[in-house]
Amino acid sequence: MVSKVRVLSGIQPTGNLHIGNYLGAVRQWAAMQEDNTECYYCVVDLHAITVPQDPKELRAKTREVAAILLAAGIDPKRSVLFVQSDVTAHAELAWILNCVTPFGWLTRMTQFKDKSARQQEGASAGLFDYPVLMAADILLYQAHKVPVGEDQKQHLELTRDITMRFNRLFGETFTVPEPRILEIGARIMGLDDPTKKMSKSEANANHAVNLLDPPDVIRRKFQRATTDSLTDIRFDENRPGVFNLLTICQSFTGETQEAIVTRFAGKGYGDLKRAVAEAVVEGLRPLQERYAVYSKDPAQLDAVLRDGAARARVVADKTLADAKRRVGLGAGADQESRVQ
Ligand code: TYM
Repeated sequence: MVSKVRVLSGIQPTGNLHIGNYLGAVRQWAAMQEDNTECYYCVVDLHAITVPQDPKELRAKTREVAAILLAAGIDPKRSVLFVQSDVTAHAELAWILNCVTPFGWLTRMTQFKDKSARQQEGASAGLFDYPVLMAADILLYQAHKVPVGEDQKQHLELTRDITMRFNRLFGETFTVPEPRILEIGARIMGLDDPTKKMSKSEANANHAVNLLDPPDVIRRKFQRATTDSLTDIRFDENRPGVFNLLTICQSFTGETQEAIVTRFAGKGYGDLKRAVAEAVVEGLRPLQERYAVYSKDPAQLDAVLRDGAARARVVADKTLADAKRRVGLGAGADQESRVQ
């Protein structure tokens, strides 16, 4: 029995990490590292290859993302930080879960529909199967809580369905996980088009504010952010540009909505943009300073990731062995798999 609350989450090493990833997910990962939790955080490179990647760039991004996670406060003494493909149990459990997941469940995934529509040469089978690998990531660690942004909600619902189906078919094996989605900051929108979620893959240079953007770039991006033709500054979801700027401001400063509205009473959008930009520049400063230190020490990063993978394997291999035994896989030649 697991006595501590297990937490697991993952992030893809594709594109540049942005403030949406930070506010929706990574910042709460760091905050969840408490005495009563056991946290597993992984850079999901197997998920990244569901769409074409340049091999050199993928490896460089995997290391960069791991260093950003450390800089964002993931403490390798308190959490297990690792790269997904370093723990082979992920791919193996995904296969087993594939065989209990009805095809029809996957056809309903909206992210697959969006992403496959963008693949000109035909989407890979891996992209279709993406959510099952995600379920494997979560179930291997018997995670109770999965801190994610709002866009992962449907994937988490599918994971819960797969878990319950497996447990019903083969007996209680996996913990049914729960998503942890923040009320504020779970869906940060693009600065260029506030009707679209901020994403790593958008081409427009003013779409996302990246975690490693220098202060002048951050200021310029906010200056160019799309707003509307009205003038008053208040939290109104029907005015997505201003609402998004105010949400980013609130997430970085921790102020209440009332305090923010009072602060900007009688002021213009130019003032709002400048103030949000400063809040973001200041909010990211410690992360950027720590990143500069970690990125200069590749040996330290190697050591953290090697240790993380070793610790992850201990838990993941045990869960996988149990799942295989329950499904009846293998000849049972080794002691453990013959135990009933
Ligand atoms: P990924 O790499 O797209 O994003 C990482 C995390 O950032 C959140 N996020 C956002 N939050 C707020 N506003 C946004 N605009 C925004 N964009 C992204 C995402 O919700 C996510 O929490 N499928 C996952 C990776 C994954 C995973 C897992 C997550 C693989 N296995 C197991 C949890 C558990 C993904 O693509 O995240």
